[in-house]
Amino acid sequence: MTHSDGVRRRDFLKGVGAAAAASGMVVAQEKAPTVPSAKAKSASRSKVKLSLTLNGKKKVFDIDSRTTLIDLLRENEQLTGTKKGCDQGACGACTVHVNGKSTLSCLTLAATIDGEQVLTIEGISDGETLHPLQDAFLRCDAYQCGYCTPGQIMSGIACIEAGHASKSSEEAREWMSGNLCRCSAYPNILAAVRQTAGVEPKSDPAARSSPVNKETLA
Ligand code: FES
Ligand code: FES
Repeated sequence: MTHSDGVRRRDFLKGVGAAAAASGMVVAQEKAPTVPSAKAKSASRSKVKLSLTLNGKKKVFDIDSRTTLIDLLRENEQLTGTKKGCDQGACGACTVHVNGKSTLSCLTLAATIDGEQVLTIEGISDGETLHPLQDAFLRCDAYQCGYCTPGQIMSGIACIEAGHASKSSEEAREWMSGNLCRCSAYPNILAAVRQTAGVEPKSDPAARSSPVNKETLA
């Protein structure tokens, strides 16, 4: 490139810069970044009204639009049976039912389910009478620390109701595979789900020799 080429290029760029300035482009580029005021920040945290049928009872909420379902349950309603594990959709600990479907409450914005029916682990027993799958978890010793258990039970109920638990143990394991158990209680969880579906005899898998003992969900 010759010197005279460089001069011509500088002249050209100057000309472009002047034209851009005249049109307001440069002003926009050089504007200092603005820091949102406290007022603007609070305006962005908008409130929404929400009504749900939660464990059979009508509830109305006035919440921050960014509230997730798990936070609504645990923080607003003190329904702490639903557990927060990963908080990013990877472990299944936060599983609840929305309109009968197994749902990850950590990935669900509460505002998106206005008017729907939510069922949590607290809502599945009938007073002091446990849900049959809760009974089966006790019988089968299907938990150790218990942290994953509410999510396992909610997924297990959905699995049974959708008919996936009774077809084959492989299908039940596949259906339940989104629920992780760091204590590796998988064979006993599977036994509890299959027994509740009525396709295996009701007994503690540890007390009998069963192929299910050799199975893992991992
Ligand atoms: Fe929701 Fe892990 S806490 S999937
Ligand atoms: Fe401990 Fe499943 S029983 S994580």
